[in-house]
Formats: sequence, structure tokens, C-alpha cells
Amino acid sequence: MKSPIISFENITYKYEDGTIALKDIILSIEHGKKIALIGNNGAGKSTLFLLLNGILKPTSGHIKYKGKKLSYTRKQIKHLRQQVGIVFQNPDTQLFSSSVYEDIRYGPKNLGLSSEKLKKTVHEAMILTETEYLKDKPPHFLSIGQKKRVTIAGIIAMNPELLVLDEPTAGLDPYYSEKVMLLLDNIHNKNRTVLISTHNVNLAYEWADEVFILDNGKIIEQGSPIEVFNNLEAIKQSHLERPWIMDICQNLNLLEKDYPKSKKELLEMMKLYSIQKDK
Ligand SMILES: Nc1ncnc2c1ncn2[C@@H]1O[C@H](COP(=O)(O)OP(=O)(O)OP(=O)(O)O)[C@@H](O)[C@H]1O
Ligand SMILES: [Mg+2]
Repeated sequence: MKSPIISFENITYKYEDGTIALKDIILSIEHGKKIALIGNNGAGKSTLFLLLNGILKPTSGHIKYKGKKLSYTRKQIKHLRQQVGIVFQNPDTQLFSSSVYEDIRYGPKNLGLSSEKLKKTVHEAMILTETEYLKDKPPHFLSIGQKKRVTIAGIIAMNPELLVLDEPTAGLDPYYSEKVMLLLDNIHNKNRTVLISTHNVNLAYEWADEVFILDNGKIIEQGSPIEVFNNLEAIKQSHLERPWIMDICQNLNLLEKDYPKSKKELLEMMKLYSIQKDK
């Protein structure tokens, strides 16, 4: 079996003021997965993400990248940051150039691409995120949703192996939320691994093939969306809800088969049931 891209071995992280944000975390990010990390405010999601690409160093425990312990040398961190691209929760912490174009170009430019390849990469990232029409604007004039898409463009332009997005749909309207999730599917189909954090249990249920619940710095449940959302105790403890599709299916006794994955699948299933009933 291929070793995980990243694994956490008993990771604890304590901020300078004494807050213990992560407690003895054990987890593996396996290649090719679509993973959702869910948990309430302050659970430790953003902290966990900052450890993934070496911005924070664990207080205790080890992080392994492709089976090798991180030693935090400059060279290793540079490589790690190219392979693990993070889109932060707050886009303002990530945008600093004078124009959107310059911002998206910054990361891939540092990778030393030829000017032809650089132009093509930036152009493709702008098309995928529908940000081309913003290219001459200063990033600080953009709306929150536009900023978010620009930061996503900047990270996909680096072509990382693992793409990590902290609340990718927060602040986006329904049209762009759907666009971003489709974009993440697209990236995943190109043999990439994608990890997101979200408070949206419906989104996690529909999109992810593995879900982790982080509660008060601890992973309290992990598995397929159906396994995780069937653990009502863990859902309650972490102030989350069950996805509405699972609730509806249970109430309508539509449980003979697997739960449908989306609204579309649920409607098809209900149609089938009503045809069978009418016969
Ligand atoms: N720089 C910091 N210094 C001290 N404590 C911090 C710092 N950053 C975060 N924390 C604390 O660490 C804990 C975890 O915070 P974190 O931001 O990782 O949670 P989160 O799950 O991302 O929350 P949210 O859903 O609100 O984004 C919280 O108790 C928070 O107050
Ligand atoms: Mg957060």
C-alpha cells in the first residue's frame, strides 16, 4: 500500500498563551481522497491546517510527509509548501500583490517556470476560478467571494499534490459555492487529494468520501460520511447536525438501499418508490 501523503502521530499543539488547540491527534491523509474536516468554532480545524504545511510546528508528536518525519529544514518546508497548497479561511491573510494577476502569478513564478508556461498556468487558474475579468484590480478592492476565488486560483496555479481549503465556501453565494465544489472535484479527478474544513454537514456528506470530526482539539469520529453521520452521539457532542438527506430518508423509511448522495439521487429514489407503490 502507498504510504499516506501526510500522517500525524500523536500531535499536540499549544499556542503561546497556553491554549491547547490540538490534543494527541492521530490521522492519515491518504492519496486520492476527498476529505472533509468538520467541527464547531474553536475545535482546532485551522490550527490543524497550519500544521499541515509547516506554518506551525507541533508542540509534541511527529508529522510525517510521505513516510518521512518532518525536520523543518528550509529546503524541506519549501518543498512541502509546494506540494501542500493551503487556501486560508480569511483571504486577506493571503493576498498582498498590487493586482489580482500578480497575486496569482506569485506562487508559480517562484517555482521557476518558463515565462510561456507561467502565462499559461496563470491563465488556466483564472479561467477555472472565473477571475480573469478581475485581473487588473487591486485584491483589497474585491468582495469577499471574489477574494476567495483569487486565493484559490493562486494555489491551484502551484499544482499541489494535496490541496487544503479552510472553509472554501464561506462567504460565497450559492452559484460560486457550487462552482468551487465542482472545481475541487475537477482537481481531484486529476489525481489530486483534496481536504476541506467546513461547518456545512450537507456539503461534507455530499462531497467527501471521508469525514473527520474534530471536537475540542480531538478527532472524535472518522470514516465514510454515512458512518460518521450515523454516530449521533459525536454529532451532538460537536454541536453539528445530521445531513438533511439522511433525516428525510429515515423519516420516509427509504432505507432499504444505501442513502442517496444528493438531492438529485433522493428525488430519483422517491420517484422509483412512488412508481412501485402505484403498481
Ligand atoms: N494565535 C492564537 N493564539 C492563541 N490561541 C489561539 C490562536 N489561534 C487559535 N487559538 C485558539 O485555538 C483554538 C482552535 O482554534 P482554531 O482557529 O484552530 O479553530 P477552528 O476549528 O478553525 O474554528 P472556526 O470554526 O471558528 O474557524 C481556539 O480555542 C482558539 O481560540
Ligand atoms: Mg477556522
